[in-house]
Amino acid sequence: MEIVLPPEAPIQSLMNYVFENYRELKDFCEIEGKSKNDEECADCHHNSYFGRGNPKYECDNFRRVYLIRFLARQFEQTDFVIKEHVLGEIEGKTDLSAVSLGGGPAPEALALMNELSSCKGDYNLFFDNIDCEASWEAVYHDISLQFANYVVNVKLKTGFSCYNVDSYVSEKRYDIVFISWLLSDMHEQDSSNVLDTARNLAAPLGHILLIDRDESSLVSRISALVNAAQELTLVEHQSKYIHSIVEFPPDIKATFSPDMGCDFAYWVLQRSLDDIPF
Ligand SMILES: C[S@@+](CC[C@H](N)C(=O)[O-])C[C@H]1O[C@@H](n2cnc3c(N)ncnc32)[C@H](O)[C@@H]1O
Repeated sequence: MEIVLPPEAPIQSLMNYVFENYRELKDFCEIEGKSKNDEECADCHHNSYFGRGNPKYECDNFRRVYLIRFLARQFEQTDFVIKEHVLGEIEGKTDLSAVSLGGGPAPEALALMNELSSCKGDYNLFFDNIDCEASWEAVYHDISLQFANYVVNVKLKTGFSCYNVDSYVSEKRYDIVFISWLLSDMHEQDSSNVLDTARNLAAPLGHILLIDRDESSLVSRISALVNAAQELTLVEHQSKYIHSIVEFPPDIKATFSPDMGCDFAYWVLQRSLDDIPF
């Protein structure tokens, strides 16, 4: 199937690539051991993602539906937060490092490349993606390297590590730590250490960008974690709505009902300047 869409922003080119390469779903569900059509997979994705606590990332069809439904939306939210709150401080920093906790396909990496591409000069971006679901690795590499083709002034060096972020420790320090749509995916009792992990990974004066659903109980839970966090300053906390400008082919729109926008909440935190013990 050839898709022809108007001249593109990088995210539109990337989504066209996703439509061409990730739209076909297998007609047999290995998890349930039965045949399934596209509509049933779309329903399964919706029910398991919003059914609290059991998204089936290990399923290839689930990951494909995730990309079609959420990648552009998550990209645009992250892109907005970077542009509004961080870009002024990182512009001109030739070697930049970032990590995503629970990055999955890591729209965070794409958004950061996109914003750097609007800046003067060349950039070396070192981006690490940490996720407990190993099956995202191939998808993440495919998508991030594809996107890197569209941004001429950013050289991407990237890695994927399969870890639980709850107990992740590293000696690396990053300019930006992303926690994007992760805490809504975790049970409350498992998420209490995530901000400690993020703080330990942030370089002095590095930023932590936390983005998630704008639901009052979740926002209260995250705000409580933020308020209790040591050595982190809250720079900004807001709720926002962004409608996606990406164009979807009609058949994909009809079958998968991509999420064209939603309210989201975000917190921008900054690590203090104090020395960090290694
Ligand atoms: C909703 S997705 C968000 C992915 C990406 N950040 C985005 O915004 O599109 C949540 C991701 O967190 C990962 N995840 C959930 N709990 C985790 C944990 N304890 N440690 C590491 N990754 C986790 C899942 O595997 C999934 O890829």
